[in-house]
Amino acid sequence: MMEKTLTDVIPEFALIDDEKLKKGSLATFVEALQLGGWQPEDMAEIPFTLLIEPCPQSLLAHTRGVVRVSLAVAKALMAAYPDEAAFRYDEDALIAMALLHDVGKLLEYERTANGKYVKSEWGKRQRHPDSGAELAEKHGLPQKVVDGIRYHSHEGDGKRDTVEAIIVNHADFINFEPLKLKYG
Ligand SMILES: [Fe+2]
Repeated sequence: MMEKTLTDVIPEFALIDDEKLKKGSLATFVEALQLGGWQPEDMAEIPFTLLIEPCPQSLLAHTRGVVRVSLAVAKALMAAYPDEAAFRYDEDALIAMALLHDVGKLLEYERTANGKYVKSEWGKRQRHPDSGAELAEKHGLPQKVVDGIRYHSHEGDGKRDTVEAIIVNHADFINFEPLKLKYG
């Protein structure tokens, strides 16, 4: 079943301790895959951005990279400022947010008959931060995670109000900009 393949492809789901959050995150992802007409394995082929053509990294590599960088940054901040409450973070919420930040791209993009990846009709109407946040909300994810998805990109500037959302936003861009610099 799709959930099993998804956790094989993205093992980081297992890092979420809270069972309800893990289940909701998986359900959100599965619905996005289904709505977009994808299988989990397709994520290894879907470009993570249409702004670099050809795109050197997949949505799968990007998603896992953003989880990894987010966790590394959060841990480094706590190590650098052990007594500073401003940097305390909820690890489960951070992982869920990083895993799901681009889940809306499964709706935003489509594959044409000749194998090209383009913006879908859905994507022309709604950007992925909004579609991803709506799906996460529908599956009962905590407001903090929903907001982190909704505000992870430029439209969220000035609206991110948790340390987790700030970390995911920056992790996302440092997983993108060096690639844009080299290949863009
Ligand atoms: Fe994004």
